Amino acid sequence: MAFYITTPIYYVNAAPHLGHAYTAIAADVLARHHRQRGEDVFFLTGTDEHGEPVALAAEREGVSPQELADRNAERFRALMPRLDVSNDFFIRTTDEGHKVRVQEILQRVHDNGHVYKGTYEGWYCPRCADFKSGNEIGPDDTCPIHGIPLLWEQEENWFFRLSSFQDDLERLFREQPDFVMPRQRYNEALSFITGGLNDISLSRAKLTWGVTVPWDPEHVFYVWFDALLNYVTALGYAREGEDLTEKFWPATYHLIGKDILKFHTVFWPALLLAAGLELPRHVFVHGFLLMRDASGRDFKMSKSLGNVLDPFAIIDTFGPDALRYYCLREVSFGQDGGVSTAGFAARYEGELANELGNLASRTTSMAARYLDGAVPAVDLDEELMAELRPIAGEVAELLDRADLTGALDSAWQAVRRLNRYVEEQAPWNLAKSGDDEALARVLATLVEGLRVVAVLLHPWIPGSSARILDALGATSLDYAGAVPAAGTARTVQRLAPLFPKPEA
Ligand code: MSP
Repeated sequence: MAFYITTPIYYVNAAPHLGHAYTAIAADVLARHHRQRGEDVFFLTGTDEHGEPVALAAEREGVSPQELADRNAERFRALMPRLDVSNDFFIRTTDEGHKVRVQEILQRVHDNGHVYKGTYEGWYCPRCADFKSGNEIGPDDTCPIHGIPLLWEQEENWFFRLSSFQDDLERLFREQPDFVMPRQRYNEALSFITGGLNDISLSRAKLTWGVTVPWDPEHVFYVWFDALLNYVTALGYAREGEDLTEKFWPATYHLIGKDILKFHTVFWPALLLAAGLELPRHVFVHGFLLMRDASGRDFKMSKSLGNVLDPFAIIDTFGPDALRYYCLREVSFGQDGGVSTAGFAARYEGELANELGNLASRTTSMAARYLDGAVPAVDLDEELMAELRPIAGEVAELLDRADLTGALDSAWQAVRRLNRYVEEQAPWNLAKSGDDEALARVLATLVEGLRVVAVLLHPWIPGSSARILDALGATSLDYAGAVPAAGTARTVQRLAPLFPKPEA
């Protein structure tokens, strides 16, 4: 089975911050989980390099757009391995392979009769690269997202006949209620559609930083059309000499933030219909990470307010797993929620170190101390195994709905249950009383439980999961192994703390 997942492609007008890392981490969790299930996974991320936001930022910095794009695209590309994100390809919209395919597809949209020339007159936000109307216009004609004055634009554009897709889109939403998830976002998108669709600009005449319109070389494509098409174009050239489109299109999941809902749930399906391409299965819309201050109030992360959490700094001190875990644990995936350094520290110590780290240290060190690391193939404690058995199914089911926080919580119950098991069984007392048989059974049960936990938690904390599995001499990540198996002889090595106290 094929599973194709994408993140939005990131604007190269600024350096990456935690909000960008967030979507990439979330997509990675799903990609890794589906690989564990033996599916054929393709995971795409990349950078959005054309258009006004980038052209303006380059102008401010006194460099060419290409220079700015090269510099910042590299930062986004480098972020991925630092986050332990396992994308299969990194697309840049300045790639030749992307540009020719954008021209090809939009030429087809033109030839299919969905395009005409007209004059655009209205409000425009150069930071959003978005033409605004109705309630998208803030007080005093400002952009409600960026707070900057909107520009009154009047220019000759090629238009896309979005209005002619009104019925098709309404039908799509009726027939495929999980096209947009969660439900609240579905309702939001549908009400935008039923509110009546206007045709939209497909090209810009004023800009030069973009993909040239093949039938009118004085124009470049409006950046959102160029950008959205990345999800399709990448499949055409990601693998040298191979076209992956047949295998992976349509996408299983587009993950996006709530600020770009209209583009992905309204413009994008209409554009695909116009090009005669299949529609993605799901667009999942997540919320925003906000900065929580000491009094518990949440603020939008903003560079100008200087309150942006730097993912690189966190990774340097605590490693990628801690960041991945924290983001998906603290904020219920799909909703907005506050993050803070204090909250991070509390979960790092209270959950990662004291719950999982402690379980892994205790289990491996007791196996080393009491059994010399040689865990025998004995019958495991059936009562405990029966409690762990259903968790794999629950986690998979939650992830099938992209409930990344719920699934993490469900997997974490296994960690907590195993820690309670250690307390209940007190292996140190069994060792003292010389009940070797009971001791071997308890330790073998713990080792198998810890292995299950490491397989379950792999998508969220791949590095720690690998270290645990390595210490247990059981390296398979196959999801079948998320269900406990019968006792097996294993050589177990003592594990150094997974989540050590950071140097001050
Ligand atoms: N280039 C467009 C996307 C084009 S996709 C065809 C874009 N880029 S962006 O860099 O501004 O944002 C990329 C993603 O990061 C968006 O999904 C956005 O919602 C997400 N985030 C940016 N800041 C965020 C938070 N503070 N919290 C969570 N995600 C946020 O939009």
